[in-house]
Amino acid sequence: MIRLIKPDISWDEVRLDFQDVFDSGIFTRGKYVDKFTHDLSKYLDARHVFLTTSATTALSTCLKLLAVGPGDEVLVADFSFPATANVVEDLGAKTVLLDVNPLTFNLCPDELLKKITNKTKAVIFVDTFGNPTGLHSIKDICNSYRVPLIEDAACAIGSSENGLKCGAIADLTCFSFHPRKIVCTGEGGAITTNNDDWANWLRVKLAHGADGMVDGQLNFTEYGYNYRLPELSAIMGIKQLEKLGDIVIERNNIRDQYNKELLPLGFAPQYVASNVISNIQSLVYKVPKRVKRNTLIEELRNNGIETTIGTYSQSNQQYYRLKYDVNLPVATELAASLITFPCYAGLNVGPVIDAIHMAVDDEK
Ligand SMILES: Cc1ncc(COP(=O)(O)O)c(C=O)c1O
Repeated sequence: MIRLIKPDISWDEVRLDFQDVFDSGIFTRGKYVDKFTHDLSKYLDARHVFLTTSATTALSTCLKLLAVGPGDEVLVADFSFPATANVVEDLGAKTVLLDVNPLTFNLCPDELLKKITNKTKAVIFVDTFGNPTGLHSIKDICNSYRVPLIEDAACAIGSSENGLKCGAIADLTCFSFHPRKIVCTGEGGAITTNNDDWANWLRVKLAHGADGMVDGQLNFTEYGYNYRLPELSAIMGIKQLEKLGDIVIERNNIRDQYNKELLPLGFAPQYVASNVISNIQSLVYKVPKRVKRNTLIEELRNNGIETTIGTYSQSNQQYYRLKYDVNLPVATELAASLITFPCYAGLNVGPVIDAIHMAVDDEK
């Protein structure tokens, strides 16, 4: 089976450091967590970094930091994995789902301007499939309304807009290190911010509410949480971060190989602006009108090639449909017509392209 993605990390790369952790017995809050935190801060050019257990816990923590709760509205890009909206619902606030741009698949400034009000407590922009195109224009709108911008960069480690990395643009940025992502730590995530006050809140709250020690004991000045990334996971993160630049270049090269073959067949790519580097987290195309997306996925699976949909229109999922009943045509259409193809270091694109040719010819 040709898989969608293979984590770019081998046993040999981590073996010695894993052994070191087992020898020392320090499985959490040790030197590898410190190093991964430091390396991420340097790589992203973000002043503060906090590692978490996932993008979901990162997003949830950011909403708690902004004191989001009942009576508040959070504006959320509709076209995303439902973790993006779930964290808003979990805190009792209203999720206002917004439609996306049909080319970039990202939150539209016009949609945002229509829905932003004095009830808006935060905006969540999603770098769909790793593409931050339009993030700065959303940020400008949020700044002018003085509404904090949270970037759901679950897919966007290594991407940038206007020369700034995702993680150094929005007020708060949340990453995922799940195995479907480019940096895989098993499960894992991170929050970045340049705001010193927020960083201080995060430092205490993410340590169970303890602000250092007094008389040899933890000093609990707040209630708090434990969303810590373990040492073994941090080792995996460090190793992949070292080669992330090369991974992003390779994924873009693979995208170019697919484009050459698939655009003449009528597959339409995601638009990435010229001032943007996308990490090509997911290599996604809109299928040609004559092709049935689900049939294509099935035919390729029968030929040993793993593909999947793009992502979800959250407003069309049962919970959100019954609760909010909104109709967002672009996200709905994208959810029905996008396909994700395999993309990883060392992939031989030829057999995948041949299988796509065969499947598309069969569907004529
Ligand atoms: C856009 C987006 N946000 C959030 C998440 C949740 O990430 P995690 O599994 O790290 O909680 C995902 C996972 O696929 C995602 O794609």
